[in-house]
Amino acid sequence: MRGLLTRWRVILHPMRQTVRQVLHHPASNDILGKTVEVCGWLRTRRGKGNFAFLVIGDGSCQASLQVVVDAETRCQPSLNMFATGVALKVRGIVQASRGQQDLELLAKEAELIGTCPQDYPLQKKGHTLEFLRQIAHLRARSNTFGAVFRIRHSASHATHSFFHQQGFACVHTPIITPSDSEGAGELFTIKDGENFFGTPAYLAVSGQLQLESACLALQKVYTFAPTFRAENSNTTRHLAEFWMLEPEVAFADLNAIADLAVSYLRYVSKQVLSECRDDLLFLQQHYEDLSLEAIEQMSNLQCERITYTDAINLLQEAAKSTKRAFEFSPQWGNDLQTEHERYLTEEVFAGAVIVTDYPKSFKPFYMRANDDGKTVACMDLLLPKVGELIGGSEREERYEVLKSNCDMQWYLDLRRFGAAPTAGWGMGFDRLVQYFTGMRNIRDTVLSPRAPDLIPF
Ligand code: 4AD
Ligand code: MG
Repeated sequence: MRGLLTRWRVILHPMRQTVRQVLHHPASNDILGKTVEVCGWLRTRRGKGNFAFLVIGDGSCQASLQVVVDAETRCQPSLNMFATGVALKVRGIVQASRGQQDLELLAKEAELIGTCPQDYPLQKKGHTLEFLRQIAHLRARSNTFGAVFRIRHSASHATHSFFHQQGFACVHTPIITPSDSEGAGELFTIKDGENFFGTPAYLAVSGQLQLESACLALQKVYTFAPTFRAENSNTTRHLAEFWMLEPEVAFADLNAIADLAVSYLRYVSKQVLSECRDDLLFLQQHYEDLSLEAIEQMSNLQCERITYTDAINLLQEAAKSTKRAFEFSPQWGNDLQTEHERYLTEEVFAGAVIVTDYPKSFKPFYMRANDDGKTVACMDLLLPKVGELIGGSEREERYEVLKSNCDMQWYLDLRRFGAAPTAGWGMGFDRLVQYFTGMRNIRDTVLSPRAPDLIPF
């Protein structure tokens, strides 16, 4: 708890406290009777004349602070100016409360910092996610998005701590790239790239290829950055701009990076569970797609591994025995469809599963060819509801094999000068946040979503 409190400390005014610091004070007796100053936004106000209960939220936690205003409170300019949504600064004495929380603030001074007219769209509670998406510039102030962004922060912070503790170096790979690492036609082209760089330039679909050059020097590296894809997939799991976490390890194979994925997911879910319990409970209560149980399950993740070929056999058996009618019949050589992934995670394994060794025909050129000549040493980690969370592989380190599929000389050079096997994966961070928050649409895990026909904020 102490660690958390330090995180939210604001060192502006000696008496300045966040709502979290007041309500979650480690020893509530110590703070009783103390004078504190709290800044935030007014959520509701009740009362009559010069007596009122103000409920103030400041974004530091799910809970709001109840502030009691009475005849002795100096209100500037006046209590009747304090409407829902205004920004306020309140100074007062912490006292025991008869309300929902143990503590409240008896205000000595309350000062209006920013007015808020009646057309403020967040007047009432309980707006739909669709409505909130239309006011993305204000939605962070709602209970739901406050929770989403605090959970997102906690997961992001845990990501860096995990890799740091494991001896990885964070490398900042470029956002502007001269090539499409995946070999797929889903790039955003930079308008003046050709004039400026003398060659076409694009927004990165992944930091992997450049990361490999750092990996063949520092051995354990990762990048965690925005990634861009112009694929026109108007789905609940795709964004045009999303955050990808990509670790890359030298002298490692597929098993090692699959183990890394499992330990990472265990660690990050433990951290989120311990830092964001109130937010998770709030979301669980309001969104049926979130259960703390699912996150607890992830904090102790046991992830089955199965080859693509075995997965196809399982799916074909299911289709045959009429247990399951698939829209796309499962065929060796075709990629798994969402319905296949859901069947595997939700019905066969009732949890996460790692599928390995897909056919090389629909996988990128850099994945290491298996001896069977048909498949590559790759893995996808699939989750119930979310689908593909992680995709990775061993990288083709044999110069001659790679050369037949790749003309990027700098990338080939990495295989000429001290080549070593490397392996890594990429995880859609926003999809992980979906899993932690129960947001059915990935657009509700980011501040300002970018998707086809969507860039208003
Ligand atoms: O499977 P992908 O395409 O793998 C790569 O880009 C590799 N270069 C990663 C690596 O090996 N270093 O993407 C990785 C993950 C996917 O599993 C998915 O979770 C997420 O990125 N992802 C998206 N998330 C949101 N919106 C999109 N449009 C996404 N496309 C991929
Ligand atoms: Mg993939």
